[in-house]
Amino acid sequence: MKTLTIGVIGCGSMGAALAAGWLDSGIVKPGQIIVWDADPAKMTALVRRLKVRRARDNEDLAGRAGVLFLAVKPQVLDAVLQEISGTVSPRTVLVSIAAGVPIARIERGIGPRVRAVRVMPNTPALIGEGISAVCCNRHVTVRDKKRALHLLQAVGETVEVGESMMDAVTGLSGSGPAYLFVLIEALSDAGVRQGLPRNVAARLAVWTVRGAAGLVLKTGRHPGELKDMVASPGGTTIAGLHALEKGKFRAALYNAVAAATARSEALGRGE
Ligand SMILES: NC(=O)c1ccc[n+]([C@@H]2O[C@H](COP(=O)([O-])OP(=O)(O)OC[C@H]3O[C@@H](n4cnc5c(N)ncnc54)[C@H](OP(=O)(O)O)[C@@H]3O)[C@@H](O)[C@H]2O)c1
Repeated sequence: MKTLTIGVIGCGSMGAALAAGWLDSGIVKPGQIIVWDADPAKMTALVRRLKVRRARDNEDLAGRAGVLFLAVKPQVLDAVLQEISGTVSPRTVLVSIAAGVPIARIERGIGPRVRAVRVMPNTPALIGEGISAVCCNRHVTVRDKKRALHLLQAVGETVEVGESMMDAVTGLSGSGPAYLFVLIEALSDAGVRQGLPRNVAARLAVWTVRGAAGLVLKTGRHPGELKDMVASPGGTTIAGLHALEKGKFRAALYNAVAAATARSEALGRGE
């Protein structure tokens, strides 16, 4: 890792979060990171903030990076691939975080032997608490994959999946933060409805969601078991749970993930 040069094309929210995560976790030094963005203001701001290096352009960057992160919007990825196809080395590992872009499109843009990693991160990566689903093509070596995972783990957790599962990942963890923002907002409103001051209700709601997630993670227990532990016979919690079942809470979540997965599949077909 200490001699690796990491390129980042696209200094927007994700590209910047990744570079900041690598430096915060101390896995690489600022001099190992080279960035480029079509927006000079964004690039200069990141170079100043993190003291990383800037490339002359995408082509220059691609020729120098051992691992190259593609952190641009999916609509511009093909153009970027075209720009870098002449300079990217066959040993460079391309890590694309562009939502919905299949590995086949990267292979078409660069060549069939390109080492390509496709990642679906989510927004909590911006505070180092994301989860990224990762898949690789067959040219990615064990060492390449280890490096890519290590770099992604600087902004959260990683899971490996087959590429065919990426749409479902998008429907669950990619879109999931938005479902939970709605949950937090609705819980706050519900507290206000019961007479709690807005600021108190908002804190109770967000910390309850955070605490419950933390309990699942720390204890390693099944969420159903933790739920049973707080639902005493004839008590308050089971009354609330009954209302959730009547409101088809679980079915709504199944439907949300299914709808987002279907939308991701449609976007992948260009619809
Ligand atoms: N944000 C998320 O939560 C999230 C979650 C999962 C996946 N992703 C994926 O992550 C990728 C980046 O998302 P983001 O939110 O960080 O986007 P963003 O903030 O818009 O950043 C992308 C940056 O790339 C620049 N750019 C455009 N064309 C370029 C080119 N040809 N060469 C170099 N830079 C170029 C853009 O400049 P301009 O603004 O001037 O166009 C912008 O500064 C996307 O593909 C997205 O699907 C994001």
